[in-house]
Amino acid sequence: MQSIPDHLIIAVDGHSSCGKSTFAKAIAKRLGYRYIDSGAMYRAVTLFCLRKHLFHGENPDMENLLRLLPEIEISFEYNPARQENEIVLNGEFVEEAIREPEVAGKVSIISNIPEVRSRLVEIQRKLGEKGGIVMDGRDIGTVVFPQADIKIFLTASPEIRAQRRFKELREKGIDISFKEVLENILERDRIDSTRSVSPLKKATDALLLDNSHMTVEQQMEWFEKVLHERFGR
Ligand code: DC
Repeated sequence: MQSIPDHLIIAVDGHSSCGKSTFAKAIAKRLGYRYIDSGAMYRAVTLFCLRKHLFHGENPDMENLLRLLPEIEISFEYNPARQENEIVLNGEFVEEAIREPEVAGKVSIISNIPEVRSRLVEIQRKLGEKGGIVMDGRDIGTVVFPQADIKIFLTASPEIRAQRRFKELREKGIDISFKEVLENILERDRIDSTRSVSPLKKATDALLLDNSHMTVEQQMEWFEKVLHERFGR
């Protein structure tokens, strides 16, 4: 195989809870690239809004949000405490805080605001300007990097995603029924695919991978074939 360039942009989009970050991280590791979790950025803006008390019920105070938006600085840096590259919001590692249910419950409202999206897309493009990056999300191959070198659209059946999520939540000791988890996944799919700005959809030139019955190792074997086809002998 000829050598793989060190400046590719790889976009991994797809439904929630289908293992995008696990797969994207494995690809980044395989290629020695940076991994960027764009969903974490929408979560960080949501955390910022919660901390500034910008929510009045379901709706954020748009006037103040737009005024404060330029103050939001987001980057990804190595966190020695957790030995991982993690999201930094205005100088603070917030990886744990952005996974709290309060943030999860409000992030779809924040990710539907056009001004928030354009600010984050600008940061995402800057992070990718030199290439050597794997970014996962919902609109990476369609909006952020329409020129990405490899685009993957990852999916799995809602039932399988719910089973995986249910197992994860149970292992964390969270008491929830399978039915609730499944309903939550279907609702998130609906919100992601029907929102007015940058809805989730497969880019026409993205490679579709349904990982319902695949392990991470099998997904990486599939990815090796993609590399072989692109950069093969
Ligand atoms: O992947 P996640 O669950 O961490 O994403 C959090 C939220 O952000 C979810 O509501 C979808 C949204 N999102 C988005 O609109 N665009 C992206 N590129 C990534 C995530």
